[in-house]
Amino acid sequence: MQTQLIKINPAHPESDLIQIAAQKILDGGLVAFPTETVYGLGANALDGDAVSRIFTAKGRPSSDPLIVHIHSLDQLNQVAIEIPDLAYRLAEKFWSGPLTLVLQRNESITPAVSAGLNTVAVRMPSHPIALALLRSANVPIAAPSANLFSRPSPTTAQHVLEDLNDRVDIILDGGRVNIGVESTVLDLTQSISVVLRPGGTSLEALRQVIPNCVVRNTYLNAEESASSPGMLIKHYSPRAKVLLFDGERESVLRLMVDEARRHHRAGVLLFDEDGEEFDGLGVSVSRLGSESNLAEIANNLFSAMRDLDQKNVDVILVRGVKREGLGLAIWDRLLRAAEGNVIRDPKG
Ligand code: TXA
Ligand code: MG
Repeated sequence: MQTQLIKINPAHPESDLIQIAAQKILDGGLVAFPTETVYGLGANALDGDAVSRIFTAKGRPSSDPLIVHIHSLDQLNQVAIEIPDLAYRLAEKFWSGPLTLVLQRNESITPAVSAGLNTVAVRMPSHPIALALLRSANVPIAAPSANLFSRPSPTTAQHVLEDLNDRVDIILDGGRVNIGVESTVLDLTQSISVVLRPGGTSLEALRQVIPNCVVRNTYLNAEESASSPGMLIKHYSPRAKVLLFDGERESVLRLMVDEARRHHRAGVLLFDEDGEEFDGLGVSVSRLGSESNLAEIANNLFSAMRDLDQKNVDVILVRGVKREGLGLAIWDRLLRAAEGNVIRDPKG
């Protein structure tokens, strides 16, 4: 398969280019496209063969369910059934945007999408290219992040090409995404609303609508079980081993410098505030931005991991962020990249 890269205007997508991509979706093909969170790898969610191509292209286990994307609330009934009133209240506040709802699956959605579960994850993305594609194809589009399984999610079309060249039909190149971490996944099928994956919609914002919503803690757990599909701890991983440090800044930085000295080729995901700490140690550095700017860190996170991989480091050192707002999603991605290993400052 030859991959066609199509440059497209992210603010005003050209309709003739969108139509080419939409037709490819309707023909059962694979189209990678930007959303506001990360690039997605899309296929017609009503077409089982098309959906199975997603799993093959990514090398993703078929036990890991996908998110279905829609362009309007009218389409929600095509995807889910027994939709609770709460889903509509959340949709009104957070759609279009980085919130995914887990609901009861409508049988029109091929079971392959949901890894055989009778639930389905659905969201309405806000990116103009994603919306234009969804409107033009006018079918629900199943789309996981457009990376090879367990690699960092793609935030540029170049990242998609790195991972999936010759594995997808079309990549719509709309430049860099806005947010940089994936959507928040919220399960509405249980008696209490549960955040399965923190993401672009903050817990604080969700709690304004659902005060008692909880974050599932098992994502901190290395155990993978059938009830937590796709929540493998090893995820979002660069090739190099990642060491995540947590605690008081000064002592954590000392631990990191000691660790860096022990390695032949250490890499650091660096906050601007930590500017000179690693000078003269021969470490490779990739900047995340200011520690106080969580949006900037989220936006740089996955590309910085890919950048250090290209510098062929054998270990990546990074300091944790505060777990509030977008920080919870950033912490989650760092923790998974580190496969759950956190080095805590003994004084912290
Ligand atoms: O921002 C995003 O959500 C991006 C863009 C492309 O929309 N998509 C994305 O998809 O991150 P993916 O496949 O990489 O992650 C989907 C997540 C997984 O953690 C999966 O386990 C969960 O959603 N999920 C999907 N269907 C589910 C279901 N029926 N029940 C529980 N979790 C589900
Ligand atoms: Mg993913």
